Amino acid sequence: MIDESKYDLRVIKYFAIATIVWGVVGMGVGLLIAGQLAWPALNFDTPWLSYGRLRPLHTNAVIFAFGGCALMASALYIVQRTCNTRLATPKLAWFVFWGWQAVIVSAAITLPLGITSSKEYAELEWPIDILIAIVWVAFGIVFFCTIAKRKIEHIYVANWFFGALIIGVAVLHIFNSLAIPVSATKSYSIYSGSMDAMMQWWYGHNAVGFFLTAGFLGIMYYFVPKQAERPIYSYRLSIVHFWALIAIYVWAGPHHLHYTSLPDWAQSLGMVMSLVLLAPSWGGMINGIMTLAGAWEKLRTDPIIKFLIVSISFYGMSTFEGPMMAIKTINALSHNTDWTIGHVHSGALGWVAMVTMGSMYHLIPILFGRKAGAMYSIKLINLHFWLATLGTVIYIASMWVNGLLQGLMWRATSIDGTLTYSFVESVEASYPGYYARFIGGTIFFTGMIIMAYNVAQTAQGKTRDESPAEAIPIADRDVTNGSLA
Ligand code: HEM
Ligand code: HEM
Repeated sequence: MIDESKYDLRVIKYFAIATIVWGVVGMGVGLLIAGQLAWPALNFDTPWLSYGRLRPLHTNAVIFAFGGCALMASALYIVQRTCNTRLATPKLAWFVFWGWQAVIVSAAITLPLGITSSKEYAELEWPIDILIAIVWVAFGIVFFCTIAKRKIEHIYVANWFFGALIIGVAVLHIFNSLAIPVSATKSYSIYSGSMDAMMQWWYGHNAVGFFLTAGFLGIMYYFVPKQAERPIYSYRLSIVHFWALIAIYVWAGPHHLHYTSLPDWAQSLGMVMSLVLLAPSWGGMINGIMTLAGAWEKLRTDPIIKFLIVSISFYGMSTFEGPMMAIKTINALSHNTDWTIGHVHSGALGWVAMVTMGSMYHLIPILFGRKAGAMYSIKLINLHFWLATLGTVIYIASMWVNGLLQGLMWRATSIDGTLTYSFVESVEASYPGYYARFIGGTIFFTGMIIMAYNVAQTAQGKTRDESPAEAIPIADRDVTNGSLA
């Protein structure tokens, strides 16, 4: 039985279940489009199954449905625990839950129908955009009003990251989506030309910065200390990390527009700011990993810690790779190739999905009235961990090989100055990589199905291979620097 005597947990339970459901759906669609790139006939000559329509469905489902529900579950759980208070507006929290599900279902209907604004990661048309803005602001009200009624003076650092996520995404979404509607399903952006491109990638890059990074760092700063049963390595570093990350991220968007009609100085500024971004990113990574200092043996025994620590390692890897790709000469090779897709998924699978999985394995048993981490089967968590790691490595390695191959083939010239390869030859050469990616994706997806099974069994109160309470012992004690109930 869920214990709601101290905190509002039921709405969080719904968000957590939705995270798993949308994870399966979003990654399933990802696997289908990975299959379509290897075997194009898989679109079955059906418009709404075509690659161009399903690709945005995949990105919206994994980022905003899977990632969004995980962020809302975690933010609303952590804010209660670290402020030692219930949600300020529980009814509004339910509105946020159902409103967000309505957004997701609308996306799942309109995108396959080909209804799109055609702005990447902001494809949804204006009526849905308005709904997103309303639900997101409601999320902000629930979160900040709960902070306002906190019983502990100190605001724990995870909440700073969630606060930045909420404010950042509200500003990005509202300004990038400004458009003139011409019908219920079609609108045109109020921006045009290179201004439109700049707005779009200011949004796109900061969607990465605030949605896929700041929010998930909030998750890291709570669940890593909790699961490791140790305080965060350096609280001071976490504050420096926060302000430096927020201050620098917003300037790096132009690295998506190298060698375009965007003014050259703006491209160079984006490049320099991207390079500077390495420092706070790695500060955060070090802080997360070093939290385990003195308790490294947990990496052998606790699969949830494995998920969390490996995810932080992938965070470090993708935030090293990103600044390198932002260097103009390197971007000249990587841009438009599968290297970008490899970079995206080292962040998306390795960091975002794995940190989510680790924290959900901690949280879900609590939401079903068990001890933290006491899932139905710990062995299955372990199996999932290895499948997720292997799947990620195969996925990103195959895309790196493809990316380099494509970049080098496109720029190769013969002695007479003509291009050595035609475009279609580079497509043919990419096929082995697409088969390998499909295999990596299948392995990763299998892990997600195993997670869904483990969650379903846990929900029914079952226990399998060992007594979960002993399997991963987690004391319910304060490990987040004195601010945690
Ligand atoms: C089973 C797991 C997954 C598979 C098989 C998969 C597969 C794919 C494929 C085939 C593409 C299109 C690549 C292209 O156009 O060349 C793609 C794009 C993308 N995926 Fe995934 N994906 C998976 C999981 C995820 C997750 C969990 C996330 C985010 C949390 C994610 C985020 C993205 C993004 C942002 C793009 C667009 C990249 C870009 O435009 O550069 N994917 N994915
Ligand atoms: C210091 C941090 C990072 C920097 C400087 C950075 C930089 C870059 C660069 C230069 C590109 C290629 C742009 C292009 O050629 O079109 C890129 C693409 C991308 N990155 Fe990162 N990256 C960073 C971290 C991350 C992380 C942690 C994630 C995911 C969680 C991520 C997700 C993406 C996505 C989704 C794209 C593809 C955008 C698109 O074209 O659709 N990045 N990034």
